[in-house]
Amino acid sequence: MASEANMAIEALLEEGRTFPPSKTFIANAHVSDPAIYERARQNPEAFWSSWAEELHWFRRWDKVLDWDVPWAKWFVDGKTNMAYNCLDRHLSTFRKNKAAIVWEGEPGDSRVLTYWDLYREVCKFANVLKGLGVEKGDRITIYMPMIPELAIAMLACARIGAPHSVVFGGFSSEALRDRIQDAEAKVLITADGGYRRGSIVPLKQNADASMAETPSLEKAVVVRRTGQEVLMQDGRDLWWHDLTADASQDCPAEEMDAEDVLFLLYTSGTTGKPKGIVHTTGGYMVGTYATTKWVFDLKDEDTYWCSADCGWVTGHSYLVYGPLLNDATSVMFEGTPDYPERDRFWSIIEKYGVNILYTAPTAIRTFMRWGEEWPQRRDLSSLRLLGTVGEPINPEAWVWYWQNIGGGRCPVVDTWWQTETGAIMITPLPGITNLKPGSATFPFPGVEADVVDEAGNSVPLGGGGYLVLKLPWPSMLRTIYGDPDRYVQTYWSRYPGMYFTGDGAKRDEQGYLWLLGRVDDVLNVAGHRISTMEVESALVDHHAVAEAAVIGRSHDVKGQAICAFVTIKEGVEGSSDLIATLRDHVATKIGAIARPDDIIFAAELPKTRSGKIMRRLLRDVAEGHALGDTTTLADPSVVEYLKGQYEEHEA
Ligand code: WTA
Repeated sequence: MASEANMAIEALLEEGRTFPPSKTFIANAHVSDPAIYERARQNPEAFWSSWAEELHWFRRWDKVLDWDVPWAKWFVDGKTNMAYNCLDRHLSTFRKNKAAIVWEGEPGDSRVLTYWDLYREVCKFANVLKGLGVEKGDRITIYMPMIPELAIAMLACARIGAPHSVVFGGFSSEALRDRIQDAEAKVLITADGGYRRGSIVPLKQNADASMAETPSLEKAVVVRRTGQEVLMQDGRDLWWHDLTADASQDCPAEEMDAEDVLFLLYTSGTTGKPKGIVHTTGGYMVGTYATTKWVFDLKDEDTYWCSADCGWVTGHSYLVYGPLLNDATSVMFEGTPDYPERDRFWSIIEKYGVNILYTAPTAIRTFMRWGEEWPQRRDLSSLRLLGTVGEPINPEAWVWYWQNIGGGRCPVVDTWWQTETGAIMITPLPGITNLKPGSATFPFPGVEADVVDEAGNSVPLGGGGYLVLKLPWPSMLRTIYGDPDRYVQTYWSRYPGMYFTGDGAKRDEQGYLWLLGRVDDVLNVAGHRISTMEVESALVDHHAVAEAAVIGRSHDVKGQAICAFVTIKEGVEGSSDLIATLRDHVATKIGAIARPDDIIFAAELPKTRSGKIMRRLLRDVAEGHALGDTTTLADPSVVEYLKGQYEEHEA
């Protein structure tokens, strides 16, 4: 098999060949008839409502879509509940005692929750929240390690109609504080700590620092995960296990309007503070249900593993909601790929017999660097489908994944979407699409994407431009929390009537879409969106810094590395100590994921005559490109000088 796969790769490099689905895959796939694209195109509303019909509604909708650009209402006046659809719906079938979540902790501990277990724990915790005075509409912030209680907390919020805002456990106390403040959350759910590469992340300690400045918070519920000593403030902080000990497991699901808010999720924008992306109940449910089923070809007998953290949208849509709506078995993992050894992912696949793996290109590039010997140590023959998300995947990494992880037999679905889109928008359908390594291929049925030029005109096949979406879709964001103007401004004002994704794309002669990365000042570091602006403000926040300009430069593993040009205040010395201090300072302000890779001291930054920093030129400097147009530069000598500085830094 290995030699056959090798040949396929050579052929691929020479001919640019495509990878059609195998006959067996087609024969067993949920969907294998390309006619569904045309059917959805002719009547997108009928297409989406046929998906909605597969789910449970307390009251059926009167109208599928109410579209008053850019304000959408899907499944108007329908009443439903996400947690009910994820759990209760399966309890009257054989799935009652099927594994819903198979969890593995970093130290190697493991738990399996059946649908019935999960239902019981969710109901109990939902009653706990009610007991703390949480009412429908109250926001709850969740700041947790990847343990089952995280999914339980999300589902409990959904059950009683309290929107959750999950904050990634790798974020700092300041980032957490800002997000609690913006959401005006009433309750925080956290843990004493979580494990990461053998050490403990002090989540509660971080949360304590945040909670000093979050007047809206009334209570904090703390899961005991590591057992380490933590401060418990009297009257505010309560243990999860005390509260749930004798909570009732009877908690009817709240009848939610289709347009009631399900959750907020903060994401980086080009400017200003993080945006609280608002998702509502009915449309998001339909979008994640449909895409999970068709993109991953998810079947009852599959063990499915999405390696994302629930702090990101991928963990929301494709670890918790999408798989549970599809009565799947979803694997959840607390740790990292290299602890205790570099074969941790492959050991999990072997141990649980994982059939479908969904991970990020940055992880794949890391595995590539570590070498084939790690996956070769384990039996990966259970795998039948692979997926990627989060950033463009280079063809080389795609083929490596296909060959070394998929054994040359598993389709690889490269899925493009965003926090804002809620669900996968551009993707192969594994029983239909002839795959091309590096291309996310075509829009999901019912989704209309286009590549347009500056003026908003469709670019002919073969050309590149900006990726836009031309039809509303059920799982679309509805607004930015507390800032509807910014919603209109960011997504709907560049091209009237079209959703602006902020990504560049090209379409080849066959109409395949190739994503080209962000066109604005948002970095994509290891699949995580970070705004240059936030890193700049964190730097300028340090007393030694006068000015900072942050750009992304290409990086083999992470996709992009963070490169900061910093002007320091007079009298301060630009030492290597200061570099270390500034890198730590950003990590403290935002989180370790935002720690700059390079800090280059600059006496001056290149600016236009109107004072705008020309990041484009800094990018050229960092990438070692010939300098672009410098005619609008106020002082052209600055860039030459910076090049010198950068080369010195590299040496
Ligand atoms: C990028 C993650 C290329 C893109 C689900 C997008 C991708 C941003 C892909 C959203 C892909 C995501 N190919 N680029 N398959 N998937 N992106 O909100 O730039 O964390 O705009 O959502 O990631 O990141 P977010």
